[in-house]
Amino acid sequence: MEYTELGSTGIKVSRIGLGAWQFSQSWGVTDYEKAKAIISKALELGINLIDTAIVYGRGMSEEFIGRALKDLGVKRDEVVIATKIPGEMLSYDDVFKATRRSLERLQTSYIDLMQVHWPPCWHNIPTCEYMKALERLLNQGLINAIGLSDHPVELVESARTCLARADVEVIQARFNPVELDAEKELIPYAEENDMSFLAWSPLAKGAVLGKYTLEDVRKLEDVRAGDPVFHPENYKQILQVADVIKEVAAKHGKTPAQVVLNWLIMYSDVIIPIPGAKSPQQVEDNAGAMGWRLSREDWLRIYEAARSIRISRVTF
Ligand SMILES: NC(=O)c1ccc[n+]([C@@H]2O[C@H](COP(=O)([O-])OP(=O)(O)OC[C@H]3O[C@@H](n4cnc5c(N)ncnc54)[C@H](OP(=O)(O)O)[C@@H]3O)[C@@H](O)[C@H]2O)c1
Repeated sequence: MEYTELGSTGIKVSRIGLGAWQFSQSWGVTDYEKAKAIISKALELGINLIDTAIVYGRGMSEEFIGRALKDLGVKRDEVVIATKIPGEMLSYDDVFKATRRSLERLQTSYIDLMQVHWPPCWHNIPTCEYMKALERLLNQGLINAIGLSDHPVELVESARTCLARADVEVIQARFNPVELDAEKELIPYAEENDMSFLAWSPLAKGAVLGKYTLEDVRKLEDVRAGDPVFHPENYKQILQVADVIKEVAAKHGKTPAQVVLNWLIMYSDVIIPIPGAKSPQQVEDNAGAMGWRLSREDWLRIYEAARSIRISRVTF
């Protein structure tokens, strides 16, 4: 495994993490033993960063992680736990209440990285209200770092001005070869400000791997059913990119998932992909994305294929 520093925190994290949204009804891993086996395999392979959220399975993902770490006898400093408070729980008092509940579910006395999952769109909670609450949690030693997920750069900038001594260490947003929007503002901003960029949906929920036919995706019933990348108009184009990824994978003797994750870490030193996995085999496959690099030529082939398609989110 390769490692990097989380922002400027001094916290050492693996160059890819384990996304834990999969431990929910949305993705279907609702059996604790299965989740434990996935977590166990990740840790065995040196993946020490686990990304979860309060809303994943309405607490189930956090609960599974806390229970598994205990059952597996993992020492607290061997794992970096990142979780998130949803945009609906960001009033000053709710930030503390939500964090207390997360700590209970995770069976720990501190959270390594607490992120705001998305901005408070539906309630008028001022940015400084939740940022000041997070800084207080940091001062109390209940969290070790602050991150902002799905926040545009302008909001990250204003959020940082609310903090007295702390800073935002992590930005998290969607980023993969066919959903490149974060390259316009967020990734350059993270690079300029020594922040880590956690790339969510790094495999485009499996779409860029080309493992599903157009027929298959029409039948999807999980969280992917409504995702624009699986809409036939978009998916048809994504399959063209997947073909290039498959060719590059064959050339390097790697799998498509390994090529995509390698492509992401080559994109920028600040990017930490957090692929979700539904089996220990997928974790093993994803961990094999480390320890080698694509040639510059193949990296560019994928980039050019990706830039030649147009994904639309207007699907009806
Ligand atoms: N901050 C946010 O708003 C936000 C939003 C979404 C996600 N996230 C985080 O990002 C993580 C990952 O994103 P994601 O869950 O959207 O999607 P993803 O990581 O792009 O895709 C995960 C899916 O791809 C398939 N897969 C994984 N590894 C594979 C492999 N080696 N070979 C073949 N298929 C493989 C699995 O589904 P199948 O086997 O069923 O194909 C898996 O469920 C989440 O777990 C969560 O922690 C954050």
